[in-house]
Amino acid sequence: MNIRTFLFGMILTFGSAWLLAVVVPYYKTREMKPIPYDEVADEKTGFYFPKRSGTIAQGAKVYAENGCYVCHTQLVRPTYAGNDIHRDGFAGFKADPDRGDTRRETIALDYMGETFAQIGVMRIGPDLSNVGTRFRKVAVDLTSSKKEAEGEAFDADMTVTAESLLYAHLQNPRATVEKRWSTCPSSAYLFDENGKPKGEAVALVGYLMSMKKDDAVPASISFGPKPAAKWVCHHWFLAIFFTMSDPKQLPTIRPDLDESINVTLAHSGEPTSAAARENAHPGYTRESLSIMVFCICSVILIVAGGALGKAQGSLFSYASTIRPDYVRGKAPGVADDAVLPPKAILDVYVKKGQSLYSAKCNGCHMSDGKGDGANYPSLAGSAWVNGTSERFSQVILNGLQGPTSTGKVYGAGVMPAQGGGMNAQDLAFLMTFVRNSFGNSVGDVISPEQAQAALDVAAARKNPAAPVTAEELKGHDKDLSGAKIDPTTLIDPITFKPAPAK
Ligand code: HEC
Ligand code: HEC
Repeated sequence: MNIRTFLFGMILTFGSAWLLAVVVPYYKTREMKPIPYDEVADEKTGFYFPKRSGTIAQGAKVYAENGCYVCHTQLVRPTYAGNDIHRDGFAGFKADPDRGDTRRETIALDYMGETFAQIGVMRIGPDLSNVGTRFRKVAVDLTSSKKEAEGEAFDADMTVTAESLLYAHLQNPRATVEKRWSTCPSSAYLFDENGKPKGEAVALVGYLMSMKKDDAVPASISFGPKPAAKWVCHHWFLAIFFTMSDPKQLPTIRPDLDESINVTLAHSGEPTSAAARENAHPGYTRESLSIMVFCICSVILIVAGGALGKAQGSLFSYASTIRPDYVRGKAPGVADDAVLPPKAILDVYVKKGQSLYSAKCNGCHMSDGKGDGANYPSLAGSAWVNGTSERFSQVILNGLQGPTSTGKVYGAGVMPAQGGGMNAQDLAFLMTFVRNSFGNSVGDVISPEQAQAALDVAAARKNPAAPVTAEELKGHDKDLSGAKIDPTTLIDPITFKPAPAK
């Protein structure tokens, strides 16, 4: 696969998903128009248009800010994606005293006018598509049972409102014994110290109260016989395009007018709580950061950053805080031209070689160089380690097929070549270390020049991939060519360059 097919595949994969999941639904829903009522069929005039302004729009922001969408959905699923219709209250009511069966699936029109459709992420709490209706019903039931209990003593002040129930829930979802289990987080911070709802709480409850998506069940999802299909598409591609829900096919929706744009009209100008929600709540003071403020601040930051960069530190120069003739002193006890003291080359090479040994040989020959006696031979006192340098170097660079210097063959059978990634300098360090550790005391330093000769010898072998054998090593029983180095030579331990004694 080359980069072009790869990119093409990526674009095709993500592009088609994006097209079908984003672009097509966007174009199918963005042109959504409010649906006018049919005067004859619906027995009313006006438009179906859910209310999305004033307190309700503010509340949608509070809802988003507080992450309610993480646990609550606003989507009564279509039957093909998991039936919610059977849930009384969830999707509407099975037996509404006034309207009969009001249950239905969510349709695209339900989100009309929302800047962001808060469909939700997970259903940890119940779906809230009809939470307004649900709480209204509970309030009515509670009020009537109160009426029964109080009898004559009941007065209008004792009426339980849906709003008050929602406030109570927001303030403490675990207030009653039956709700001790609730995992709905408390929003007590939306109330002041006297328990009075702040502007945010008012807005949020306004928003929750506006959630009524239980309008008359449209014919398209009724349990009656299905209308004849308009399109018969056998091709999968066309099927995907044309079976996506088309709002224009649902003209029979008859929503309740409460919470729709003509609330005031519907309530003949009466100041109902629903009508009050048409206006913004003055207690809600928070406004989202405008994009203009963001842009202006960005420009200021960019310009300011440029100016600071151009000033090259002169704006806040420390020079002004330092006395004119100040000279920085030296740390006590340190010589003027302090550098690390030179060391004997043998010591430096042994030290360097130790870390290479740890990386390359430790696993088999052990940190004390003694091997384990059964699988891996000891390097302490080994004739090939302490003997001629070319023979030793070829064991390291090519590996070894036993028998070893003692004639013994070890359990592991063969030592793999260790020359990979090793340059002449490394090999010089490593060989010097092994020849002068674990009780070995050859006392010489393998110079990088000699180590290079070892690499050349290894490269010139007839079969460089095979490990050397005792037989082959007979031909390498000599010292490596190249200039030797006096082990007492002093060098700089960092640069390895010869350094004069101090
Ligand atoms: C951690 C998950 C979680 C989060 C976040 C959450 N809720 Fe809940 N909510 C639940 C659960 C679980 C229930 C069911 C238990 C109950 O009724 O208290 C519930 C119940 C509710 C109910 C009662 C619904 C009914 O039909 O009885 C309302 C109203 C509600 N939540 C509103 C909110 C609001 C508003 C927010 C954001 C401020 C929110 N929830 C955030 C988990 C959550
Ligand atoms: C994977 C395990 C392994 C590693 C790593 C290894 N060796 Fe070996 N080495 C062996 C085995 C096994 C033998 C014996 C070979 C045989 O018996 O065929 C051996 C033999 C030797 C011998 C011959 C000893 C003698 O006296 O005959 C030397 C020298 C030696 N190894 C040096 C080294 C050095 C230096 C390193 C690190 C660069 C190293 N080995 C890394 C397994 C290993």
